[in-house]
Amino acid sequence: QLKKTEVVPLLMEWFVQQQQIICANPTEVAAKLRKMVAGGARKTVVISDFDYTLSRFANEKGERLSTTHGVFDDNVMRLNPALGQQFVDLKNKYYPIEFCPILTQEEKIPHMEKWWGTSHSLIVNEKFSKNTIEDFVRQSRIVFKDGAEDFIQSLDAHNIPLVIFSAGIGNIIEYFLEQKLGAIPRNTHFISNMILFDEEEKACAFSEPLIHTFCKNSSVIQKETSFFHEINGRVNVILLGDSMGDIHMDVGVERDGPTLKVGYYNGSLDDTAALKHYEEVYDIVLIHDPTLDVAQKIVDMIN
Ligand code: TMP
Repeated sequence: QLKKTEVVPLLMEWFVQQQQIICANPTEVAAKLRKMVAGGARKTVVISDFDYTLSRFANEKGERLSTTHGVFDDNVMRLNPALGQQFVDLKNKYYPIEFCPILTQEEKIPHMEKWWGTSHSLIVNEKFSKNTIEDFVRQSRIVFKDGAEDFIQSLDAHNIPLVIFSAGIGNIIEYFLEQKLGAIPRNTHFISNMILFDEEEKACAFSEPLIHTFCKNSSVIQKETSFFHEINGRVNVILLGDSMGDIHMDVGVERDGPTLKVGYYNGSLDDTAALKHYEEVYDIVLIHDPTLDVAQKIVDMIN
């Protein structure tokens, strides 16, 4: 059994040895980790994005995998190619805007609202049933990152709340977890867009407020205040994300403790400006990492 003072230097040493890890300010990271180790599991909460954070960005061949919304692209394309193409056209048009290095967030927001709004209207107008959507998830190309199942279950085992904060579709994440883990772990809380079903279990609306990539902050967290109040002793946050929109997901937490921000970078290595930006906003940047190893090591160290 290692002493509490020994674990942080060991983890920092391990970070240095891993090629996929960039840690721009190791002194600050070590200081945050020391506070987290001192606080232990009882003081910790994990807030994580889902798409391309808990789920994988690409398969071994480098082919892009699916987001939660992307479940509709693939499956609808098989059943109704004209409608499927509409989902794909939306993605081809708006995904480059979401990650455009030139536009500001303010300039991107109207485009994101249009993308989410149009995509959700297509889903509601088609009145997809709950069963059909569960089937879509079963046949989808959403893939957990390596170690994600163990990570989620180890948080549950140590009674550490996991907040899945997703601008994707929360029901799809729920079905995916049920299918992969057998049930949704008790410790898991969702902040996401939920498809609402009518009495025949057909999609009839989406929950409000709409959550898109760039409003994962105080604007959508208001209705979550009772949840954050319940966990108000949890002052140390591990935040996992993959985009610039994820870095304020901890605004609902009532405290002044540290947030350790771990960011998955899925972009091009030639895009040095984007990479530098990730290094500025995330404490730890993981380059094309298909695993949950770093987050798991941090949690293991805290317990
Ligand atoms: P998040 O990873 O921040 O939760 O954002 C969800 C992702 O879903 C975001 O990268 C855009 C993507 N998306 C689709 O792939 N298809 C869609 O129809 C919509 C609305 C979003």
